[in-house]
Amino acid sequence: MIIHDKEFKRTVSSVKKPEFKHLNRQIPPEAHTSMYNFHKYWSRKTWNVVGEYIETYCPKTGIVYDPFGGSGVTAIEALRRGRKAIISDISPLATELTRLTIKYIPLDKIKEAFERIGKKVKEKILELYKTKCRNCGSEIVFDCAIWIKDKCVDIRYRECPNPKCKDERRKETPLIKYDNNLLSKIEKLKIKEWYPKNKFYYSNGKPFKEKQQYESIDELFTKRNLYALAILMEAIECEENKTIRDFLKIAFTSMVHLCSRMNPISEAGHFTPFSSAWTQHSYWYPSGHYMEQNVWNKFESSIYGHQGLLKAKGESNEYFKDIKFATSFKQVIEGEADI
Ligand SMILES: C[S@@+](CC[C@H](N)C(=O)[O-])C[C@H]1O[C@@H](n2cnc3c(N)ncnc32)[C@H](O)[C@@H]1O
Ligand SMILES: [Zn+2]
Repeated sequence: MIIHDKEFKRTVSSVKKPEFKHLNRQIPPEAHTSMYNFHKYWSRKTWNVVGEYIETYCPKTGIVYDPFGGSGVTAIEALRRGRKAIISDISPLATELTRLTIKYIPLDKIKEAFERIGKKVKEKILELYKTKCRNCGSEIVFDCAIWIKDKCVDIRYRECPNPKCKDERRKETPLIKYDNNLLSKIEKLKIKEWYPKNKFYYSNGKPFKEKQQYESIDELFTKRNLYALAILMEAIECEENKTIRDFLKIAFTSMVHLCSRMNPISEAGHFTPFSSAWTQHSYWYPSGHYMEQNVWNKFESSIYGHQGLLKAKGESNEYFKDIKFATSFKQVIEGEADI
């Protein structure tokens, strides 16, 4: 395209450049706070660095626009600094995470919802993780199991509930007949609740860039955990209030990867008997041992844990109680809403 020289000059000169006192120093990154910690987002940026850029380059009454907003750090830091924000992302998880980090909710509402869900499905889910104490024979709910490929090889529990026993198993606790019977029962059952079966392929048949051995989402889970997660999601869907459902779902997605097979047991390094992490940027298949977590325990800690939703909302409620959500860009531009 040929741009007429005269017209080009006229267009450029009509833009008045704002004057900035540029940032010309290093900004030491600070740790993520609770509202940035409750949900994983691979590419989350450091809040205080983003915040300093906003302070420097956006006028006090300005609007910050981030078309690739991710977990919402730019929008959140803009609002905290009295600016308005327009944000988008191609991923619905990203926009939902941003919205729910900002949206106000009384903490009691989350606690009450968790109680209701617990009454409905806690026992049913915990039944799937029962074993017998190896020391005294008491029935006990285990914390996690270790698998290799399609074989469960190890059961781990923190403390036997029998006060005289208090046995703990951190490793090398092979399955007993009780465990194998439970697993064969689970293998035989048909899951009636909904769960996703989406394939790791685009509609044109091309596989996802990060696809590995698994063909579809359900294959990322053991049958036990797929069933437990399906029961849990159904209970969440039964909640009457949409906002409550949305918050419970974001708690669910904050822990669902930890309940998948993608959490390897590292032989080297620091030994953590009851936890593991999804460390690869793909839907990968650990070639060695991996950890199967107790779904109810993970859900409980996604709400009450030190990186849980309650702590996150305890922080973000303080900042965003009066924030007004827009239903159009125009409302933000005309100052009728904040984001
Ligand atoms: C580097 S991340 C942004 C991280 C963000 N600053 C944060 O702190 O969480 C880039 C984002 O761009 C989004 N993205 C990629 N392609 C996009 C597109 N075509 N339209 C909108 N968003 C897109 C991705 O989903 C991802 O969340
Ligand atoms: Zn015991």
